Amino acid sequence: MQQYIIGNWKMNGTKTEAQKLASGFLKRIQETNRPLPHIILCPSYPYLASVVEILKGSPIEVGAQDCHPEKSGAFTGDVSASQLVDVGCKYVIVGHSERRRHHHESSTMVRKKVEGAIAAGLRPILCIGESSEDREGGKALHVVSSQLDSDLPKDFAPHELLVAYEPLWAIGTGHTPTPDQIEEVLGLMKHELSIKHASGGVIPTLYGGSVDTKNADLFLNLPHVDGLLVGGVSLKLDEFWEVINASTR
Ligand code: 13P
Repeated sequence: MQQYIIGNWKMNGTKTEAQKLASGFLKRIQETNRPLPHIILCPSYPYLASVVEILKGSPIEVGAQDCHPEKSGAFTGDVSASQLVDVGCKYVIVGHSERRRHHHESSTMVRKKVEGAIAAGLRPILCIGESSEDREGGKALHVVSSQLDSDLPKDFAPHELLVAYEPLWAIGTGHTPTPDQIEEVLGLMKHELSIKHASGGVIPTLYGGSVDTKNADLFLNLPHVDGLLVGGVSLKLDEFWEVINASTR
């Protein structure tokens, strides 16, 4: 499977910086003749349309960082999945731990967002992962497994979704799981996804949390890692390009 390298820009930058980054990646892919992974950039809402415009016709795709589960209505400050499709998004990150923590998003809410995104024609990137207490208490696999159960709708096709394992303790900390720990969790995810949700077809499983130019290569060589979800480093042109070039398939 062609790997996925996704840049989550979070709440960073200005319009000019977003445009400069998008143009920079565009130039790099135009100059390379190396086979590329799927590349997806996820800027903040206000910059989506102009990043889409810059990348129009290129293989780089654009995703949002969240969406509301409803199609439309009196939800001040929210953005629906169909509005994201309307401005040219193809993907949306759903259930990121920063949303769950700062906006008290429950699993039920996350599942509704996944359903709403799929119904609108967006491909959700569902984020799941355990806390450091869960990891230390030996509960990582249990937590990930129950999040898969509670956050995913019963019916969806494998090509409609991606799942990213982002342990909370690895996000923005410089700490990462060992390759064995990543393989253990992603192996479990793949197994559960194959028996519970997808009849044939493979749902891509990604890793995210403190990915950088030094560890990308190691992670991307792991058999169960179908891609990376990158935060801080995705805001740096040269470093993120290095991560993209570390893709192995
Ligand atoms: P960092 O790569 O900055 O640790 O962030 C990971 C993340 O949250 C991506 O969604």
